[in-house]
Amino acid sequence: MAAGPGGASHGQLELGLGVPRLAIEPDWKAQTRLWGHSLHPMCSYLASFPAALSHAFIARYSRPGDVVLDPFSGRGTAPLQASAEGRIGVGNDLNPFAHLLTAAKLDPPTAAEARTRVTALRLVWASGSEHWLELARSIQASPADGGPDPVPAEVALAFHPRTFAQLLFLRDTLDQGVSVDRFLAAALAGILHGKTPSYLSTLMPNTFSMAPRYVREFAAKTSFQSPERDAFDRLDAKLTRLYRDPLPRAAGVALLGDARDAGSRAGRALRARGLPDRVRLVLTSPPYLRVVKYGYYNWLRAWFLGFDSRAIDASLDDAHRRAPYLEFLRTVLHDLRPTLTDDGVAVLVIGDVATDRGRTISDGHDLAERVWEAAAAPEGYRLAGIADDDVHAHRKMTKLWGREAGRATQVDRILVLGATEAGRRRALAAVRTPVDWDWPSRGLRSI
Ligand SMILES: C[S@@+](CC[C@H](N)C(=O)[O-])C[C@H]1O[C@@H](n2cnc3c(N)ncnc32)[C@H](O)[C@@H]1O
Repeated sequence: MAAGPGGASHGQLELGLGVPRLAIEPDWKAQTRLWGHSLHPMCSYLASFPAALSHAFIARYSRPGDVVLDPFSGRGTAPLQASAEGRIGVGNDLNPFAHLLTAAKLDPPTAAEARTRVTALRLVWASGSEHWLELARSIQASPADGGPDPVPAEVALAFHPRTFAQLLFLRDTLDQGVSVDRFLAAALAGILHGKTPSYLSTLMPNTFSMAPRYVREFAAKTSFQSPERDAFDRLDAKLTRLYRDPLPRAAGVALLGDARDAGSRAGRALRARGLPDRVRLVLTSPPYLRVVKYGYYNWLRAWFLGFDSRAIDASLDDAHRRAPYLEFLRTVLHDLRPTLTDDGVAVLVIGDVATDRGRTISDGHDLAERVWEAAAAPEGYRLAGIADDDVHAHRKMTKLWGREAGRATQVDRILVLGATEAGRRRALAAVRTPVDWDWPSRGLRSI
């Protein structure tokens, strides 16, 4: 295992395992939960990393005007933060729900456009609500007879009849191919369920959808009735929160597709827009080993957005064992490398999975080291080192899963690579760069 010519150097600590540890201070842990642009918390997303973590690497490893790419963009944290810091943010994901969130954040309508559209939707609703109220009543009375597009019984029982009617109307009317409607659909997905008055159903927490069977049993046992929540009012309040910060000056690029060819597709998409087509920083968190089912744990949002949650889970690379996972990441890194600039840096946040549903698994251990050895080194990358982040994932997952936290990752390792020796040197040189944690940071307010 090579640490690069000269072994451990400035910014690296050799810990005797052959892989140097990078002395990057995990300052992101000291920031508030909502640090960063106000569009970040648009919708909850499992295993997303904090905006502050992405800032720590965007600030070190890119400059305004550079392209920052995340081939597994999830809810778009890295490309949004990059765009908000004057970079060209590019996000790719194979999950249509993740793509919708990324696209909504990278190409948002202005606040005025969003509010005007909500007003127009209110007016259409007001003139035709009887039809939707009748439809909602009949579906809730007999969910199985849903006609050509049946509504799952668990969806029907989650909402107050009037809220449900509004959602049926919005689901039918919003056109996700149009920026403003896509943004409103994503914002509505973010307020679909949760325990506070901001949400449209109180049946389940905001973070993920409870299992459908559990939902049915819970609803029957407690004679659950969701309070009436006006979808337009809650959406307006959500828009106020989302538009707290000014929008990034330029739109980013959101791609839907497999990370295996995200590098080449990103290059083509950037060229087609007349933008620089080489990526200075790849900042990403690949799927974890056998931990998250994005479709299943988002079935209610998937219904609202018109996605098939089973098809989502069948298509994603979340279920691998270690050997195929490493092969998968090698293919991804192979395709990314020609798209990186000669001094490009790739930062991979890798969950170190120790247990899976309570059982110890050995193949998740030391995953970052294995990714370096089996996926990055053979593709010609140069190793700058690995930084540890042993707190945020565990805290987040403990909140999510309670005592079942062991099924999720326990440690995040941050693997920092150079595309070439120039990239490795740049990665090492910037380790001790002081990062400005004011938000919006002083240097960026003028961008
Ligand atoms: C750990 S999450 C990334 C979360 C992201 N950093 C954020 O802050 O939201 C991993 C992502 O990989 C996506 N994914 C899984 N297999 C994929 C594939 N073959 N190609 C592209 N994306 C994939 C999942 O949909 C998920 O969004």
